[in-house]
Amino acid sequence: MCGIVGYIGENAAKDILLQGLKNLEYRGYDSAGVALNDNETTSVYKAQGKLDNLCSLLNRVQLKPSARGIGHIRWATHGAATETNAHPHKSNDGKLVLVHNGIIENFRELRQELEKQGFRFYSQTDTETAVHLIDREYKKCGNLEQAVINAVALLKGAFAFCIMHDDEPDKIIAVRKNAPLLVGLGNNENMIASDVPALIGKVNRIIYLEDNEIAIVHRCFVEVKNFAGDVVEKKIENLAFEPELISKRGYAHFMLKEINEQPSIIRRQLAEYFTDNGEIKLGNIDLMALMQAVDKIEIVACGSSLHAAMTAKYMIEELAHIPVMVESASEYIYKYNLTDDKTLVIGISQSGETADTITALKQAKQKNAKILVLTNREDSSIVRYADFVLPLKAGIEVSVAATKSYTAQLMLLYLLALKLAQMRLGMNDKLRKLKEELFEVPAKIEQVLCQTNLIKTCAEKYAKAQDYIFIGRGISYPSVMEGALKLKEISYINANAYTAGELKHGPIALVDEKMPVVAVLTKDNLLYDKMISNCQEVKARKGKIIAVTNDAAHQDMFDDIILLPKSSSELMPLLIAPALQLLAYYTALSLGREVDQPRNLAKSVTVE
Ligand code: F6R
Repeated sequence: MCGIVGYIGENAAKDILLQGLKNLEYRGYDSAGVALNDNETTSVYKAQGKLDNLCSLLNRVQLKPSARGIGHIRWATHGAATETNAHPHKSNDGKLVLVHNGIIENFRELRQELEKQGFRFYSQTDTETAVHLIDREYKKCGNLEQAVINAVALLKGAFAFCIMHDDEPDKIIAVRKNAPLLVGLGNNENMIASDVPALIGKVNRIIYLEDNEIAIVHRCFVEVKNFAGDVVEKKIENLAFEPELISKRGYAHFMLKEINEQPSIIRRQLAEYFTDNGEIKLGNIDLMALMQAVDKIEIVACGSSLHAAMTAKYMIEELAHIPVMVESASEYIYKYNLTDDKTLVIGISQSGETADTITALKQAKQKNAKILVLTNREDSSIVRYADFVLPLKAGIEVSVAATKSYTAQLMLLYLLALKLAQMRLGMNDKLRKLKEELFEVPAKIEQVLCQTNLIKTCAEKYAKAQDYIFIGRGISYPSVMEGALKLKEISYINANAYTAGELKHGPIALVDEKMPVVAVLTKDNLLYDKMISNCQEVKARKGKIIAVTNDAAHQDMFDDIILLPKSSSELMPLLIAPALQLLAYYTALSLGREVDQPRNLAKSVTVE
């Protein structure tokens, strides 16, 4: 989603801002802009579309040297992705400029009030309200910091701001409320960013701002205050990310690199979460004590994380016999639910910044539920609401489509399910076998990845299809939902997933000779036989079946087959995922799509 970078120092602000924005590009955006201050005046440059358009614009204009500036990439919420709506926005006298992540909920009322007071608005954004509001307060008190404090008291919603004023050339002000923002500390230069990658390679000490904090960032020092104006002592942390983490390492796309990283990530997780004597150890969580304190489990998440959660429901209920409710976080927030102090609520979020998931956890916390968070970003906002955190350890995920974080979530959820099962039912042969099999998963994923060329050919064969259907049963059902999501988000082909048993209750009306149907069949007697029957039904309507299966029988009834290694059906989602990720990747590639940054999507969805 939107990204913020700010710089104050001795070097060329333009280059530093552009590099910072480039490092945030992966989050998804549709316009970009910078404001550069040359110690006297501020010039704002904005462009619709990709950062390259802004770079070309900046190359065409004569720029004065400037060592202070703010930059932004915008993912449109209020108003289309036009140059006018792009940030930075400026005050009517052109002296105050501001960039904003988040949503100001009471912008309509404030805009009306400010318009009545004579402020002129040029954009349709909620953000411009904040500019004029701070400007109004500045004109009253003549002090930027105080003006910001006065203004934020009147704003509702979520906001991270970076603000500069021509008359206060020694500072940039950064504000955080419900939207992440951090300050990077250098020598005679400091930065502000909405996420760590913007700072990689430039500064290596950071201050994470908390909600309701303001940082007054000077070239040589930084002061942090709360919204009441009191100074807050902040911890300085070392930046743990290396520039290498955000490089493609020779792959054509981050998505392909991240798909191929999956075996090594799972090896890393196994090393991290198993003790030397083969016991599962989930950090310092005392699962026994935790489970004695609760009587049910609820999982909240969005998108791919939600599909991992749905898979976990099958695992935990089947292996540990504990009831699990899974809810899309955006639904959980607005419905009556049974969460109480005897509920373990698990929040799953790769980014740790998904607004819906965070709000759901905040609500659960208010009901005194115990909160466990699975996230790839231990430095993210979601961690604040957690009693326990299980880090995915998947490394930064740059491609908008989740791949390695999804399998890393599945793996951690398996470990949790196995541990819960062992605690509740004692060790048995099935659990022992599954535990042993976990160690074979990385090599089995490698076998799936070895089929890249076959999957590519299959993807190209059906790339012109208008629609796709995905079917699966049991624990494979969330896997086909994830496969369909992957395909639609990066190829823009309409893809719908159904439990195979539902097909005949309506969706089969869509099947004809042009319809590719991805059928996931895993060898476990009853479900396998039922899946074969469902495939027959598709064949009878001339649909094209792409079978993703771990059984070589019945090959003649499929149009294409992606053969997966043999495995227990419980672990198959870990093998199905990379196969369907590759299918989506090569379909998108063959259609010439922007694989890593699909249209309209953002890597972390920080608005509800
Ligand atoms: C799909 C995808 C999204 C995310 C969803 C939740 O490929 O990336 O559906 O899974 O936005 O994001 P996190 O896991 O960061 O909360």
